[in-house]
Amino acid sequence: MARPSTPRPVASPDLLTAADLMAVLPMTAEVKDGHLWIGGVDTVELAREAGTALYVMDEATIRFQLSEYVKWTRYHWKDVDVVYAGKAFLTLAMVKIVEEEDCCLLCASGGELAYAVRAGFPMDRVQMHGNNKTPAELAEALDAGIGRIVVDNFEEMERLSALASERGVTQRVLIRVTPGVAADTHDFIITGAEDSKFGFGLNQGLAMQAVKRAIELPGIEFEGLHMHIGSQIFALHSFAKAIEVMVGFMREIQVETGHSVRMLDVGGGLGVAYGVPDEPSTVKDFGKVVVDGIKEECERHGLTVPRMAVEPGRSIVANAGVTLYTVGSIKEIPGIRTYVAIDGGMSDNIRTSLYGAHYEALVADRADQPREMIATIAGKHCESGDIVVKDAPLQHLEVGDIVCVCATGGYCHSMSSNYNKQVRPGVVFVRDGAWRWSLRRETYDDLMRSDLG
Ligand SMILES: Cc1ncc(COP(=O)(O)O)c(C=O)c1O
Repeated sequence: MARPSTPRPVASPDLLTAADLMAVLPMTAEVKDGHLWIGGVDTVELAREAGTALYVMDEATIRFQLSEYVKWTRYHWKDVDVVYAGKAFLTLAMVKIVEEEDCCLLCASGGELAYAVRAGFPMDRVQMHGNNKTPAELAEALDAGIGRIVVDNFEEMERLSALASERGVTQRVLIRVTPGVAADTHDFIITGAEDSKFGFGLNQGLAMQAVKRAIELPGIEFEGLHMHIGSQIFALHSFAKAIEVMVGFMREIQVETGHSVRMLDVGGGLGVAYGVPDEPSTVKDFGKVVVDGIKEECERHGLTVPRMAVEPGRSIVANAGVTLYTVGSIKEIPGIRTYVAIDGGMSDNIRTSLYGAHYEALVADRADQPREMIATIAGKHCESGDIVVKDAPLQHLEVGDIVCVCATGGYCHSMSSNYNKQVRPGVVFVRDGAWRWSLRRETYDDLMRSDLG
C-alpha cells in the first residue's frame, strides 16, 4: 500500500500561499478575493452552502487525467485498456465519467461491481480482481457478464471454472503474477521470496502451474497475465524491471505450452504529489516506459505484442480532490504544539493515522496570505492518533475558518468509516462554476438503516 513519499524536514512556517500549492491542488484551482476557488466555485461559499466536512472533486482534473492515460498509452500502441481502479474513489457519477472518457473499470469487490451494474457501465469493459473473491462475488461477476476476472489462487480458479461451466459460459481470465519486483517509491527491490498475499509467485513455479491449469480447465479462457507492484511509485524503472520479468515469463509460457499471452496488464501505482517537494513522474513518461518497454521486450524475445492494460487509481483522483473542514477550536499548548480541531478526522481520512501520510493544508478564507504558523490539524474522534495533518504550515486562522486539506481525492472517501457514529461527509463535484452533489452527506437514519434494533 501507499507509503509517504519524499521525507519531510521538520516543519516550519514556509510563507507559501495557495498560489505556491498548485502542484497538489486540482488543475482548476485559483485564488480570487482572497479565497480558494476550484472548478470556478468559491470553496468558502461552497462550505457555507453545503456544510462541512465536505469532499470536493474537480471534474476537469479527473477527466484530464483519464484522457492523459488514454492519450499517452495509445500513442505508443493501439491496443491499450485504461482500467480505472475504482477502489481509489467510486460514486455513480465517477463511474459515468470513466465510461465517457472511454476507459474501463477495475472492481475489487461485489460492492464495486454493483456500482458498475447500477450505473449501466458496459460490462465487457469491467475487470475484477482481489485475493479472496467469494463464490457469491464470482457468481455475481459471471451473471453480470463481466469482461475479465484476474485469478489470484488455485481454489478460486477451480471455483470459477465450476461456476462458469454450470452457467454454460466461458470466462476470460488473467493470471495474477507476483514478479518478485516490489516498488519502493523511488526504487525497486528484487524480492526472491515473493512474500505476498496476492497472486502466484514466479520463482517456485506456481505461476507456470497456474497458467497450465487455466489452459486446461473448462469454463475459463486463459487470456493473459496481470501484475501490480505497488502504489505511490515515483521510480518508473521499477515498472521497466517488472515488465522485463513478465515478458520473460510470457516467452516461457509460449515455449512450454505453445500458448501465446494475448494480454499483459501491468496494474496501477503511479505516484502523485501530496507535498510541495514531491515530483512524481508524468503520465506521458509512464506511458512511454510501460508501453514501449513491453514492445521492446517482446521484440527481444520474438513475441507478438499483446493487448495491454494499465490500472491507475490514485493518479486519476488524488489531486482532483480536497476536503473542506470548519475550524471548531484552536488549542495552543505553550512551547509544545498548537492543535486546530476540525469537524472530521480519521473517519474521513484514515491515511495519516494508518501510514503517516503527509498532506498540504491551507485556510480557504485566507488563501492569498502566507502560511505563517505551524499547527496540527486534529480530528474530532476519541483517539489521540486522530490527526489529519501533523505540524502543518498554515495561514493564521480563527474559529469558523474553512481549512482545506489538499490531494484527498484518492483513498479517503473510499476508506472512510462511521467510527464514533460519525456520518460520512458528502461528495460534491465542481465544474464550470457550478457544483452538484454526487453523494449527499449521511444522516443519522443512514447510520441505523441496517440496525434491526
Ligand atoms: C490490482 C491493483 N490495480 C490497481 C491499483 C491502483 O493503484 P494506484 O491507486 O496506486 O494507481 C491497485 C491498488 O492498490 C491494485 O491493487
